[in-house]
Amino acid sequence: MSEVSAADPRLEGRAVRRVVYDEAALAAKCQELGAQITAAYPDGDLLVLGLLKGSFIFVSDLVRQVHRPLAVDFLVASSYGDATVSSGVVRLLYDPETTLEGKHILLVEDIVDSGRTLGRLVEVLRERNPASLEICALLHKHIATELSHPVRFVGFDAPNEFLVGYGLDHAERFRHVPYIASLL
Ligand code: IMP
Ligand code: MG
Repeated sequence: MSEVSAADPRLEGRAVRRVVYDEAALAAKCQELGAQITAAYPDGDLLVLGLLKGSFIFVSDLVRQVHRPLAVDFLVASSYGDATVSSGVVRLLYDPETTLEGKHILLVEDIVDSGRTLGRLVEVLRERNPASLEICALLHKHIATELSHPVRFVGFDAPNEFLVGYGLDHAERFRHVPYIASLL
């Protein structure tokens, strides 16, 4: 675990408890997950579906570590607004045009908290008859009560703290911070 640079202008002067995952740890994890995903899909069409906005950086690093053919698409499901606590409502803002039927779908999420977002999405995507439907989450808080579907690929078991950086935001700030930090 590295020292937080109080001088990092990307943090806008916010007090940060600690850096939880630094850039090297995140890069190593993408490599590890990429290898697992490559091995898990020996054949068939693979569609990586990133959940916007939080997964945009993770998806871009992850897919470059998957050594087999694939396609990438994104969808938006929003449940938090500007709050740090889930409001409980999942809105599907965009449906991918891509056909899901007969494809291996890998849903990529930044962090599983209550699991509400993913639980709802899994229901919706299942109706489109994919060949398989699995979840890859960079972070898992393991407090999910609303997700019956197992998360097949998990990066890190995350602490129950509010995290920002590497795609994760607080009120749309800090997504571009290249490491993951815990906000005070
Ligand atoms: P869930 O539906 O409660 O599992 O919430 C998942 C979504 O909430 C994630 O995709 C994030 O966008 C957001 N979220 C949950 N925990 C955090 C956090 O610690 N930092 C930033 N965003 C979070
Ligand atoms: Mg968010």
